[in-house]
Amino acid sequence: MEKSYQRLLENNKAWALSKKTIEPSFFENLAKGQSPEYLWIGCSDSRVPADQITGTNPGEIFVHRNIANMVVHTDMNLLSVLSYAVEVLKVKHIIVCGHYGCGGVIAAMGNKQFGLIDNWLRHIKDVYRIHSNELEAIKDENERVRRFIELNVMEQVGDLGKTSIVQNAWKNNQPLHIHGWVYDLKDGILKDLNVNFTSPKDLPAVYQFETNKIYE
Ligand code: CO
Repeated sequence: MEKSYQRLLENNKAWALSKKTIEPSFFENLAKGQSPEYLWIGCSDSRVPADQITGTNPGEIFVHRNIANMVVHTDMNLLSVLSYAVEVLKVKHIIVCGHYGCGGVIAAMGNKQFGLIDNWLRHIKDVYRIHSNELEAIKDENERVRRFIELNVMEQVGDLGKTSIVQNAWKNNQPLHIHGWVYDLKDGILKDLNVNFTSPKDLPAVYQFETNKIYE
C-alpha cells in the first residue's frame, strides 16, 4: 500500500520549522495554555477547515465538527465541548457554520436509506418538517437545498440557546454571542445569516429556564 500518509508527517516537520523560524517562541507560548475567543461548530466536511477559511492561528478557535454541524442536545460530545468552551474557556462567540452543498443536509432531504447515519440525519429531517411550508414553496431544487442548509444552521443556533449551559452563562452576565454562518464551497466566502442570539429572550418562552439552580 502506498504510504501517502508519510506526506503529512513530512509536511508537519516543514510547518513546525517554518513557524519556529518566523517566531522562535511560537510553540513555547502555545504550550502554556489556550484562551480562544471562539467556539466553532462546523461540518466534518474536509473542504471546510475552520482555521484556514477564517485566517486564524492555533490557539484562536475551539472546534467541534460533526456531520451537518448539528447541535443535538443528547450528544455527550457536543455538550462536553460546549460546557468546557463556555464555562472554563469562557469563549465570547459561538459560531455555527454550515456550508452549501452539504451532503448530510442533502441526504436528509431525500428518502434513501444510508444505514446507521439515518439516525443522525433524522435530526435534520425534523428541521425540514418545521420549515416544510417555506421549503416546499421553493420550486428550484438547488435553491431549496440552499435554503434548507441556511434554515438548518438557524435551528442549530436556536438549539444552542436552549441549552442550560448557554442560558446559565447569559444569567451570569457572561458575554456570549451565538452566530449562524454558511460557507460557500464555490467561492470560499462565509455568509453571516444574522441570527445573533445574545439572551434567552430571543427564544420561545417554553425554552426559557427560570433559574440556574437545579433544586430550588
Ligand atoms: Co457538510
